[in-house]
Amino acid sequence: MTRIVWVLHGPNLNLLGSREPDTYGSTTLAQIDTDLATVGSHSGVEVVSFQSNHEGALIDRVHAAAAAGVGYIIINPAGFTHTSVALRDALLAVDIPFIEVHLSNTHARERFRHRSYFSDVARGVIVGLGAAGYRYALDHAIAALAQSRTGS
Ligand code: DQA
Repeated sequence: MTRIVWVLHGPNLNLLGSREPDTYGSTTLAQIDTDLATVGSHSGVEVVSFQSNHEGALIDRVHAAAAAGVGYIIINPAGFTHTSVALRDALLAVDIPFIEVHLSNTHARERFRHRSYFSDVARGVIVGLGAAGYRYALDHAIAALAQSRTGS
């Protein structure tokens, strides 16, 4: 595994900060991404973030991850969590371990948010912990990448 982590954000997450702050908090996506890149750099891990409102663009990005030598993916598929077989299939196709993150506790919300097309094939799932959830996911990815390097 290489020491590259890609963070993928799905639709409407570009509006974080102003979008339903009672549900998603007041941290902007730029703040989340800057924080993750900083944390990664302290551990010698390159963290690259990407957001799109388009399913195909996210799928193309997942395909590109394989060629780019990405060792771990952190993904918040947002609304596509509950709809996208195609994005799930892309993650399975590249066979890169990933963590699914949601800012809100999707299980405490509408019924249609309880089903995820990603959770059963994710290495782990973090829901309901707000922006900190991304940090926890990155902590795990960094540890997993370090472990794979030492072969322990
Ligand atoms: C979300 C939860 C989804 O149900 C919703 O469609 C989102 C954001 C979250 O981070 O809590 O856009 O993924």
